[in-house]
Amino acid sequence: MKGIELRNLQVERSGAVIIGDLSFDIPSGEITVLLGPNGGGKSTLLDAICGVIPVSRGSISLDGLAVQELSRLERVKAGISYVEQGRQVFSHLSVEHNLRAACANREQADRAMERSLEVFPELRKRLNTAAGMLSGGEQQMIVIARSMIRDPKVMLIDELSLGLAPIVVSRFLPLLERLKHSGMAILLVEQYATAALAIGDQAVILVHGACALSEGCAALRADPQRLHQAYLGAQSA
Ligand SMILES: Nc1ncnc2c1ncn2[C@@H]1O[C@H](COP(=O)(O)OP(=O)(O)O)[C@@H](O)[C@H]1O
Ligand SMILES: [Mg+2]
Repeated sequence: MKGIELRNLQVERSGAVIIGDLSFDIPSGEITVLLGPNGGGKSTLLDAICGVIPVSRGSISLDGLAVQELSRLERVKAGISYVEQGRQVFSHLSVEHNLRAACANREQADRAMERSLEVFPELRKRLNTAAGMLSGGEQQMIVIARSMIRDPKVMLIDELSLGLAPIVVSRFLPLLERLKHSGMAILLVEQYATAALAIGDQAVILVHGACALSEGCAALRADPQRLHQAYLGAQSA
């Protein structure tokens, strides 16, 4: 399969099992939405996929190749990009410098600029503006563009909309569809479930480190009660 396959993953933090025995796919050309209550293990799972923390059991493969033994840097090189929760722009630097600062050399920077502006043409007229002057949604475009510099196969995005108004989020999230159509595999953790389900393909609800529900986003949009039940089941557990 193209994309990421998680099989029987177990992840521990400080000796406690946070993710139990988790298996699901994050296919290329799709947006997989990861939902669930606070403390359910979403960020821990993303940390484990990109190699910030080790897995204690199970496998992670990318385009069929096992990556769970690779270092974080090796996984970046293999094509796994991670937009961590709370990642921000350099607010005093111009938009252009924000994009170029993440690049190793001029050639990479030119390519990255071209690609970023292709995906987010709205940034073109703001290139010389200090990034801190941009709207929250535009700043998030820069964050995403910076994480695309190595042309990743997979993007793991954690709570990109934290601190943004729902209206901004509903305008911003559809931009991820442009990345999906370029063949990227996207795993999206998002607090605004409705907005995420509107653009997602598959959804996985993570509760106490286990999959409480795995379902097509269209089906969950049609029957939101199932989503509520999965969350509620968590509280009574
Ligand atoms: N650095 C850490 N050390 C120990 N436990 C942690 C650490 N970070 C998170 N946890 C615990 O792991 C569980 C899952 O947290 P997290 O992955 O942040 O969930 P979510 O992102 O779904 O809110 C929580 O019980 C949390 O307290
Ligand atoms: Mg989190």
